[in-house]
Amino acid sequence: MELTLKRETFVTTYPPYSVLSAKNVSTIWERRPINVYVHLPFCPKRCNFCYYRIEESKGGDEVTAYVNVLLQEIALLRDKPEIQSCSMQTLYFGGGTPTMLSSEHFIQIMEALEQVFPKTPDFEFNVEVRPGGEATQEKLDTLKRLGVHRVSIGVQSLDDVVLKENGRNHLSNMFYGTYERVRQAGFDWVNCDIMSGMLHESEESWKSTVRLLSEIRPENISIYKMEVFFNTKLFRKLRQNPDMLVSDDAEAANFRWARKFLEAEGYFMWNNSSFVTSPKYIHKHRQNVQYGAEMLGIGLSSHSYFLDSMFQNTADMNEYVEKISKGELPISRSYKLSKQDQITRYIVMSLKNLTLSREHFIENFGLDITSVLPAKIEELTSQGLIHLDEKQLYIDPEYYDFADDVARFFYPEHLQEDMLAHISRKG
Ligand SMILES: C[S@@+](CC[C@H](N)C(=O)[O-])C[C@H]1O[C@@H](n2cnc3c(N)ncnc32)[C@H](O)[C@@H]1O
Ligand code: SF4
Repeated sequence: MELTLKRETFVTTYPPYSVLSAKNVSTIWERRPINVYVHLPFCPKRCNFCYYRIEESKGGDEVTAYVNVLLQEIALLRDKPEIQSCSMQTLYFGGGTPTMLSSEHFIQIMEALEQVFPKTPDFEFNVEVRPGGEATQEKLDTLKRLGVHRVSIGVQSLDDVVLKENGRNHLSNMFYGTYERVRQAGFDWVNCDIMSGMLHESEESWKSTVRLLSEIRPENISIYKMEVFFNTKLFRKLRQNPDMLVSDDAEAANFRWARKFLEAEGYFMWNNSSFVTSPKYIHKHRQNVQYGAEMLGIGLSSHSYFLDSMFQNTADMNEYVEKISKGELPISRSYKLSKQDQITRYIVMSLKNLTLSREHFIENFGLDITSVLPAKIEELTSQGLIHLDEKQLYIDPEYYDFADDVARFFYPEHLQEDMLAHISRKG
C-alpha cells in the first residue's frame, strides 16, 4: 500500500468509531470470571509428610469459630469494587480436611459466596475429602445438593503399612467406605490422589495401589511425588537418615510404570500429575490456575493471584482473626508482577501443564513465543525436551514427568534455586 499525503481526515482515535456496535453494549459491564479457593485448615491428625497450614482438631467449636471469621472475610471482600466486577467460574474447598465442617457450615459459606459472586454458566465446584468417618453420608449428600461437581479423595496408598508409617489417620478399608459413600451421594466425577515415593513404599506396594485403584475406576487419578519439606514431621525424622527415602530413580521408575499401566487401562495424562478417563474430567480449576488465570484465595494462609498481584493471607490464626475483627483483609504479603513476570509466569505455568498455546500467547501478550527467550527455547528444543509446531510449544511426551524441571528452566537466573528447603532424594 502506498501512502498518499493529502491532509484529509483528522485522526480522532483508534480504532475508528465505525467498529462500535449496539450489540456489544452489554459486554462493557460483563464480570470477569475468576477462580475461588477456600482454605479449611482442620484435620484430625497431621500426616508425617504434610506441609500444608493445618490445625489438628476434633472439630466442634473451634471449627465453628473459624467459619464465622471466614464469613466475615467474605463480607469484607464483598465491599471491594474490584471484587464486584468478578464472577465465579470455579470454586475449590481445600485443606486441611473440608469435611471437618458440618453441613450447616457448608451451607453458610455457599450462601455468603453467592452473595458476592454470580456463578458463570459453566461454574465448577470441587471439594477435597479425606478417607475417614468425618465424611459422613449426610455431609456428602449436602455437598451434592449444594452443587459440588467433583470430589477429590486423598488416598495416598492402599497399603496399610505405608499408610501407618507415613502417619495417615486411616487404613485402606476406610478409603473404600468413603468412596462408596461418595458414589452413594451421586457423585459421578471423583478424583483420587496417590503419592509416589512414600516411606516404606516398595515396587510391589506401589503397583498394587495403582492396580487396585484403577479397578474401581475413579474418573481421575492424580499422582504426586512425595516431597519432604522442612515444616513436616518427616523432615525431622529423615534429617539424620535421608537414605530411608525411596531413591529418585526408584520413584521415577514407579511413576513411569504407573503412567504406562494407567494409559493401558484407558486413562490419559493431561498434565504432569493427573490422569483422566475422558477430556470432560479435566477440571477447570486446576487448568485455569495452572495457565495463570486469576484465583482469589479465602481463609487462613490462602494464596491469590489477582489484578496482576500475587498475595497471601496470614498463616497465623490469631492475626487472621484479629485483622478480620478490625474490618481489615488478612493479607500479609504481596508482589505486583511486571509485564516480564507475567510473561514468564505464563510460560512456566503452561509448560508445567505440558503445552503452551501459541495463539493464546499472542492473544495475551501480542507476541509470538519464539520472540521471547529464544535461546532457552532453542536449548531445550535441541535436547529434545520440548517441541515447537504451528500451534504449540509442548513437552516431549517421554519427559512429561520432568515438566516441572523444564518449566523451572524459564525462571530468571536469580530465582532458579528458589524453593522451600526440602530433603532431596538420592539417585
Ligand atoms: C491438602 S491435601 C488434601 C486432601 C486431604 N486432606 C487428604 O490428605 O486426604 C491434597 C493432596 O496433597 C498431597 N500432598 C500432601 N502432602 C504432600 C507432600 N509432602 N508431597 C506431595 N504431595 C503432598 C496429597 O496427595 C493430598 O491428597
Ligand atoms: S489429612 Fe491431608 S491436609 Fe490433613 S494433614 Fe494429612 S495430608 Fe495434610
